[in-house]
Amino acid sequence: MSVATTTGALPHWETVPADLSAAIAEVKAALRARIEASGRTVEEVFAVIEQRVAARVAEIAAAKQRGETVWPVIEYADIEAGRVSAEQLDNLRARGCLVVRGHFPREQALAWDESIVDYVESNQFFQNYRGPGDDFFGSVGSKPEIYPIYWSAAQMEARQSERMANVQAFLNSQWNHESDGVQWFDPNRDSLYPDRIRRRPPGANSGGLGTHLDPGTVDLWMTEAYQKAFRHLFDGTVEEYDPWDAAHRTAGPQYPGSTMCSAFRTFQGWTALSDMDHDQGVLHTVPIPEAMGYLMLRPLLRDVPEDDMCGVTTNKVFPASERWHAPLLQALTGIPDVRAGDSVWWHADMIHSVAPVTDQKGWGNVMYIPAAPWCPRNERYAASVREAFSTGSSPSDFPAEHYEREWTGRFSPESLNTTGRRGLGLE
Ligand SMILES: [Fe+2]
Repeated sequence: MSVATTTGALPHWETVPADLSAAIAEVKAALRARIEASGRTVEEVFAVIEQRVAARVAEIAAAKQRGETVWPVIEYADIEAGRVSAEQLDNLRARGCLVVRGHFPREQALAWDESIVDYVESNQFFQNYRGPGDDFFGSVGSKPEIYPIYWSAAQMEARQSERMANVQAFLNSQWNHESDGVQWFDPNRDSLYPDRIRRRPPGANSGGLGTHLDPGTVDLWMTEAYQKAFRHLFDGTVEEYDPWDAAHRTAGPQYPGSTMCSAFRTFQGWTALSDMDHDQGVLHTVPIPEAMGYLMLRPLLRDVPEDDMCGVTTNKVFPASERWHAPLLQALTGIPDVRAGDSVWWHADMIHSVAPVTDQKGWGNVMYIPAAPWCPRNERYAASVREAFSTGSSPSDFPAEHYEREWTGRFSPESLNTTGRRGLGLE
C-alpha cells in the first residue's frame, strides 16, 4: 500500500452538493493534496498520463497515414466460436472500441427495422409525437430521429438473443471484474438496459453531436465509490491506472440528471438496422481508453479555475472540448462502413461524437443496446425496468414520455426467454 492511501479520507458527496462550486473547489484541493502526499506533484502525475495518451495519439495518426482501419473489426462467427486471436484481443483493448461484423444476419436486421416501422405506424406514433423529450438529443431537430420507443418486439428479441448475449459476455470479459475477493459484476449475465431507436432518413441534414462522454459527470470525482475506482490517478500510483478495472464502479450512486445512465455499462453500443457508409454522419470515438485518466486529472492543473471541472457539471453531458482536451481530440476516428446487422461498441468511458451530415445517403438506423452486466447497480435499476416493461412506460433514465403504454404489438412477457427473464431479474 502506498503512503498516500493511508492518509486521510477525501471529502465526498453521495448526492449532488448544495453548493457545487464550493464542493468542486474543496474536492480539487483535497485530490491535489492526496497526490502531493505521495511525493509527486500534480504536474508530474498528469505528465505520465499525457505521455501515455500522446503515444496512442501518434500511433493512431500513423495507422491512418498507412490507410489502416483504426477501429478493430471482429467477425461475430469468431466470437461465437471462441477463436478471436490474441492479436485481435490486444487491438480491442488498445483501442477500446469494436465493430462486430455479421452480429446478426443482414436480413434479420432489415426485418427488425421494418417491424419497428410497422409498430410505430400502426400505433400512430407520428401523429401523436409531441417533440423531443429532452434537451440533449432534442438538439438534432424537431422531426423524430430518435424514437423514444423501448418495448418493440425487435428491440426485445435483439436484447434477449443468444447472439447478443455472446457478444456482451465477450466484451464484458475484457474488463477485470474480480479483485480483492469481490466479483464486481457477472460477465455472463446482462441486465437488458432498455434504450431507444434512431431512424435517420435519406436526405437528412443533421448537426451531429459534439465530443462527449456518458459514464457520469462531477460524481466521477465526488462520490466515494468513484474516488476509489480512480484511486491510482490520485494516490501517486498513476502507472497502475487501468481503464479495464471494474473495481468500485458497480455499486455506487450516480448523480441524477437529464443525461444520466443508472446502469453500469462496460461498453456502449448499437446494432445497425441499415447499411451506413463511414461518411454519412456516423459515430466517432477517441479510441484511447486511457484518455479517461487525462480527463480526470486535467481539472487539477493550475490553469483551470478553482471551481471548474473543465466544463463538467450536473445536468449537462460531460464535454470533451478543444479548450481543455485538444490533444485527445486529434485522435477522433469514425467507424468504417457498416452493414445492417453489424454492431458497434465503445468503452463506457470513451469520448465519442456523431459527425454532421448533409443530404444523407441511405438510412441511418440503429437500436441502442449496450453491455450492462449484472451487478448491484444494475440489479437496483432492473426493478424500475421491470415496472416500465410491464406497463409499456419509458424507463426511469429517460424522459417520461410513455408513448407505448396503450400500444398494441408490444413485446409481451410471455415471449421472454431465459436470457430475458434473467436480464429483468425475474429468475
Ligand atoms: Fe453519448
